[in-house]
Amino acid sequence: MKIVVIGGTGLIGSKLVNILRQRGHEAVAASPASGVNTVTGEGVAAALAGADVVVDVANSPSFEDRAVLEFFEASGRNLLGAEATAGVKHHVALSVVGTDRLSESGYFRGKIAQEKLIRGAAIPYTIVRSTQFFEFLGGIVHSSADGDVVRLSPAFVQPIASDDVALAMADYTLAEPVGGIVEIAGPERVRLPELVRRYMAAVQDRREVVADPQARYFGARLEDDTLVPGPGPRLGTVNFETWLARSQASK
Ligand SMILES: NC(=O)c1ccc[n+]([C@@H]2O[C@H](COP(=O)([O-])OP(=O)(O)OC[C@H]3O[C@@H](n4cnc5c(N)ncnc54)[C@H](OP(=O)(O)O)[C@@H]3O)[C@@H](O)[C@H]2O)c1
Repeated sequence: MKIVVIGGTGLIGSKLVNILRQRGHEAVAASPASGVNTVTGEGVAAALAGADVVVDVANSPSFEDRAVLEFFEASGRNLLGAEATAGVKHHVALSVVGTDRLSESGYFRGKIAQEKLIRGAAIPYTIVRSTQFFEFLGGIVHSSADGDVVRLSPAFVQPIASDDVALAMADYTLAEPVGGIVEIAGPERVRLPELVRRYMAAVQDRREVVADPQARYFGARLEDDTLVPGPGPRLGTVNFETWLARSQASK
């Protein structure tokens, strides 16, 4: 199959392109770096010519509220429109577990808009909602830091390694469209401050971690279960310790 991976140069996209090629498919890594910009529409029609499946693992370069919403709305419209013209048979997108519960957050309003466009289009689809990537822990610390204190909701998380995300994306890409949402998560559920303490100790970040039920996650208040999947998610196999050992070994 010809499979176009939008965001194919990113963290998940680059791993996904490799897996799809290893499985014998023609996988095209499409992104602004290769002249394909889904926000402006530049290069999209040419990239999609003859494509069977399109996987969208792009992300907004800016996390500012308005920028994220504009990114996912423009990108979704341009991409789904070009897919209809090209006769694409399956649209696969990567979203986030709990997206529908996170509308207080500007970032997640962007993801809600992305999912809505997919559901409203005529292309058969699979929306894969993932929990937080271990690789994103540094981003969570950064966004929650206030001077020497990192203030975090004590909500549960069930983070997943990007390797497991890419494997799951490859399997869903090569399967029939689900016509709905599937959830993927890591093997262990833990409270966010506890995980971040372990992460910060490992990277020798000595700032204090404070559990605060009022602390917001990218602008949204969290309940205990906001960020964890419902029943029956596909689980990755890589836990925090294994991920940490691998990521430190590759440095
Ligand atoms: N971080 C998490 O914990 C988490 C959890 C669940 C789901 N997700 C979702 O996972 C997805 C992928 O995340 P990631 O961390 O792999 O992203 P990433 O590493 O930041 O990569 C983003 C990709 O998007 C591409 N891109 C940016 N602007 C574009 C445009 N205008 N047109 C086409 N492509 C564009 C980039 O291309 P260039 O390299 O050319 O700039 C890059 O390939 C996101 O949709 C995110 O919501 C993330």
